[in-house]
Amino acid sequence: MIVLREVSYTYPEAADPALHGIELNLQPGSITGVVGASGAGKTTLAKVIAGFLPRVDGGELTGTVCVAGRNLAELSLVEAVGQVGLVIQNPFNQISGAKYTVREEIAFGMENLGTPRAEMAARVKQVAALLRISDLLDRSPYALSGGQMQLVAIASMLVLRTPVLVMDEPTSQLDPFGTRLVFAVLDQLQQAGTTVVIFEHKLELLQAHADRLLVLAGHTIVADGSPTEVLADERVDGWAIGSTRYTRAARLARGRGLLPVHGALPVSFEQAAATFGGAR
Ligand SMILES: Nc1ncnc2c1ncn2[C@@H]1O[C@H](COP(=O)(O)OP(=O)(O)O)[C@@H](O)[C@H]1O
Ligand SMILES: [Mg+2]
Repeated sequence: MIVLREVSYTYPEAADPALHGIELNLQPGSITGVVGASGAGKTTLAKVIAGFLPRVDGGELTGTVCVAGRNLAELSLVEAVGQVGLVIQNPFNQISGAKYTVREEIAFGMENLGTPRAEMAARVKQVAALLRISDLLDRSPYALSGGQMQLVAIASMLVLRTPVLVMDEPTSQLDPFGTRLVFAVLDQLQQAGTTVVIFEHKLELLQAHADRLLVLAGHTIVADGSPTEVLADERVDGWAIGSTRYTRAARLARGRGLLPVHGALPVSFEQAAATFGGAR
C-alpha cells in the first residue's frame, strides 16, 4: 500500500538530513507503530508518508514514496489528500481557523472535496459518535480542552475515509479512556481495510494493537518487526524508547531476587503472566 525506497529528506537550510536510508513497505489493512526518541524523525516521516514533504514545507526529498502503486510526487495535492490522511502532532494546528463549530470543523475537509451535504452530515454524526464527541458538535473549536481538540482533529481526518491514515502522536493530550478509545477505533479501521501508521510512545498499547513496530533512531529505521520481537531486542535501551510496564516490573522483581538473573524479560502481559506464574 505504501512503499518507500531509499528515502532521504533534508529540511530547507538544514545541514544534515532529518531522515536517511528509509526503506518501508506497509501492507494494506495493517497497523504499524513507529517509536523513537524526540528528534528521531517521527514527525518528518509522518509528513513524508502523507506527501507534505517536500510539497508543503519545501526541502529536498530523494528516493521514492509510492501509495497504492502511484508515485506520491506525481499526484496532485487533492489526489494525495484523498489517499493519505495525516493527523498532525499538535491538534491546535490541525484546526482550520475558518469554522465556528466543531461540526463545521469536522466537515471542512469533505467540504473542500465537494462531498454532498447530506453525506457530510451523516458522516460527521457517525464519526462523532465513534469518538464520543457528539456533545461537542455545536461548540467552538477554540473552546475545547487539549484532549477534546485532539479528538476533533482525529475526527476531521477519520471522516475523510482515506485508504491510509497516518497519526503523529494522536493520544498525547488524551486521558487513558480517550487513548484506549482511539486504539479501539484503529482496530475497527483495520478491520475495514484501512492502512494505519501511528507514531506513538505508549508501548503497551502498540504491543497490543500494532501488527508491526518500527524504531527510528539516528534519523533512520533501526528495527522493524512484530512489537514483541522489537521490544525484546537487546539494543532496546540504546534507542531511548522506554520499556513496557511488564518489563519494568520484571526488572524490579529481578533486582529484588524474585526472578532468576538470566533469561529474557517479558514485554507483554502474556509473557509477564508466564514469567511471574513461573516464579511462584
Ligand atoms: N522545520 C524544520 N527545519 C529544520 N529542521 C527540522 C525541522 N523540523 C524538524 N527538524 C529536525 O529534524 C529532526 C527530526 O525532527 P522530528 O521529525 O520533528 O522528530 P520527532 O517527531 O521524532 O521528535 C530533528 O533533528 C529536528 O531538529
Ligand atoms: Mg514529532
